[in-house]
Amino acid sequence: PAFTDYQAESATISQGLVESNHAGYTGTGFVNYDNVTGSYVQFTVSVTAAGNYPLTLRYANGTTIDRPMDITVNGSPAAPGLSFPGTGAWPTWVDKTITASLTAGTNTIRAAATTVNGGPNLDRLRV
Ligand code: GCU
Ligand code: CA
Ligand code: CA
Repeated sequence: PAFTDYQAESATISQGLVESNHAGYTGTGFVNYDNVTGSYVQFTVSVTAAGNYPLTLRYANGTTIDRPMDITVNGSPAAPGLSFPGTGAWPTWVDKTITASLTAGTNTIRAAATTVNGGPNLDRLRV
């Protein structure tokens, strides 16, 4: 199938910074979430047909502590407390995939940190 990539650095960011100091990202950088509860990245995703889609978040977590996030679609929980465990190093990027129901047209997909450690570094969303 064909995929569309939505770069985190081009998304709406609340409490985070666009950075590029860890290699291996795609696009022009990644989002470094502020290490606070509630920091988020929000994507606007358009699909032509309603249905279930794989959503793949590419992230890095150079710590050994999980950085869970709530994934919501159009304000409803799609994957509450989704685990983003350590990837071994900040330049080591890993895909995390969930399946979520999208409506035809525009969808708002948010990944919000649930702990004071904030989210992992986030490179992109692939739909
Ligand atoms: C380091 C790292 C950042 C990361 C941060 C964190 O500062 O360089 O990219 O976001 O740790 O622990 O969140
Ligand atoms: Ca951070
Ligand atoms: Ca990116």
